[in-house]
Amino acid sequence: MHQVAVILDFGGPAGRFIAEKVRECGVYCEVLPHDVPGKTVTEKKPKAIILAGGQTGAGPALFCAPEIFDCGVPILGVSCPCAAEEDSKKKIFVMRYLPEGDHADSGMRELKSFLFDISGLSRCWDMAEYVERTIEELKEKIGDKTALCALSGGVDSAVAAVMAHRAIGDGLTCIFVDHGLLRKNEADDVMRTLSEKFRMKIIKTDARERFLSKLAGVCQPEKKRKIVGEEFIRVFEEEAEKAGGAEFLIQGTIYPDIIESGSGNSDVIKSHHNVGGLPDTMSFSEIIEPLRPLFKNEVRKAGIVLGLDEETVRRQPFPGPGLAVRVVGEVTEEKLAIVREADAVFREEIIKAGLHGEINQYFAALTDMRSVGVTGDSRTYDRAIALRAVTTSDFMTADFARIPYEVLERVSQRIVNEVKQVNRVFYDVTPKPPATIELE
Ligand code: XMP
Repeated sequence: MHQVAVILDFGGPAGRFIAEKVRECGVYCEVLPHDVPGKTVTEKKPKAIILAGGQTGAGPALFCAPEIFDCGVPILGVSCPCAAEEDSKKKIFVMRYLPEGDHADSGMRELKSFLFDISGLSRCWDMAEYVERTIEELKEKIGDKTALCALSGGVDSAVAAVMAHRAIGDGLTCIFVDHGLLRKNEADDVMRTLSEKFRMKIIKTDARERFLSKLAGVCQPEKKRKIVGEEFIRVFEEEAEKAGGAEFLIQGTIYPDIIESGSGNSDVIKSHHNVGGLPDTMSFSEIIEPLRPLFKNEVRKAGIVLGLDEETVRRQPFPGPGLAVRVVGEVTEEKLAIVREADAVFREEIIKAGLHGEINQYFAALTDMRSVGVTGDSRTYDRAIALRAVTTSDFMTADFARIPYEVLERVSQRIVNEVKQVNRVFYDVTPKPPATIELE
C-alpha cells in the first residue's frame, strides 16, 4: 500500500490543482469533499491532510469533521479561508498561494517541505511501478476469463487496452464504436492507426443509426450525455455476446472524469459518458478501470512507460459523446455534417500554421443561433460556428489560445466559403472557469 496524502476539497480548482502538484512531488494523494465523515479520512491512514480551495463563497459554514483535527496528522491549508480562520485555534500550516505563476518555485518548495520534512512522506508514487502493479492486478482479477475493452482512439483507452492486453493477451477483445458523432474521416483514421500500432483483436462496429435515433429531439446536454453513455454500454453488451461473452468491461476512465462527474456532494459539472452517464444495470459482471486514480499527464507517462508512440500519447482529447456535445441543442445529421466540415477546416489551418504543438485542444462547435448575413446581393439567415482553442496543463482549468488574427481570418473565410449554411464564425475567448472547454 502507498503512503497517502488526503486533500479535502473546499470548492474551486485549488483542490485538483494541488493534487496534481502533490503527485508531481512523487506522493500519492486522493481528493475528497471537505465534509466527508472523519472516519472516511482516518481509515485511509493519511500521513498528511491538505485543506484546499473555497475562495469563492466559502466561509465558516464550510467546515470539516473534528476528528480530522484530532488525529495527529499534519494539516496544511492552501488558499483556504477555513484554514486561515482556524489557524489561530488549531495547529494548521498555511500556504497563502497556489504554487503557480510568480509563486511556482517558492510554492513547490513550501509544499515539499510540508510533505517530506513535516509529514515524513517519501517519494514512492512512480508510473513505471504503477503500470507493473496494475498489470499484475489485472492478471489476477481477470485470470482466464474474457474482457472487452472500449477503444476510442484516444490516449486513455489506448493505455487501458495495452495494459489489459499485456495482462491477458488474447482474452481481450477491443471494440471501436462508430456512433456517428465522430469527426471527419475519424473512424477510418482511428481503425488504420489502431490496427497498425497494436497487435490486438479490434472490432469496429457501425452504430451510427441507433445513436442518432436515440438522440433525436433531445436538447438538454445532460440528457444527451446519459443517452450516449447508456447506448455505448448496450452496444458493448451486444458485441460481447457476439464475441462469445465477456465477463469484464475495461474502460479508460481517469480521475478528472470522476471528479468532474460529481464525486461526493460536489456539483455535477458534466456527466462524463463513462461515469455519470452509465446505466444502472448491465450484463458485465464488473467494470474495470485501470486508470481510475490517474490524472491526464500521468496517463501520458504510463503510455510512454508502455512504449506507446508519441502521436497516440500526445493526441488531443475528444469526448466520448463526441460531436453530440459540440452541436448545441438537438443533434441532427445535417448539423453534424456542418460541424464536421467546419472542424476539419479549423484543424487543417491550425496544423498548417504550425500551432498544433502549442494548443492543447482545438475544435469547432455549432451554436444554436441563426443570424442575418449577406452573400452577393442576397440576404442569408444562417448558422454560426464557434471556434474553441485552449491551452491547459490538466483540462480542469484552461485559457483561450492566443491564435494570430491572420490564422483566425483564414479559418473564418474558409468556413463561410466552404461550409454551406454557415454565415458567421465566432472565436471563444473565455477561460475555464467560468466556461468549460466543450460547449455542453
Ligand atoms: P470540459 O468541457 O468539462 O472538458 O471543460 C474537460 C475535458 O474533458 C473532455 N470531456 C470528456 N471526455 N467523456 C470524455 O471522455 C466526456 O463525456 C467528456 N466531456 C468532456 C473535454 O473534451 C476536455 O478535454
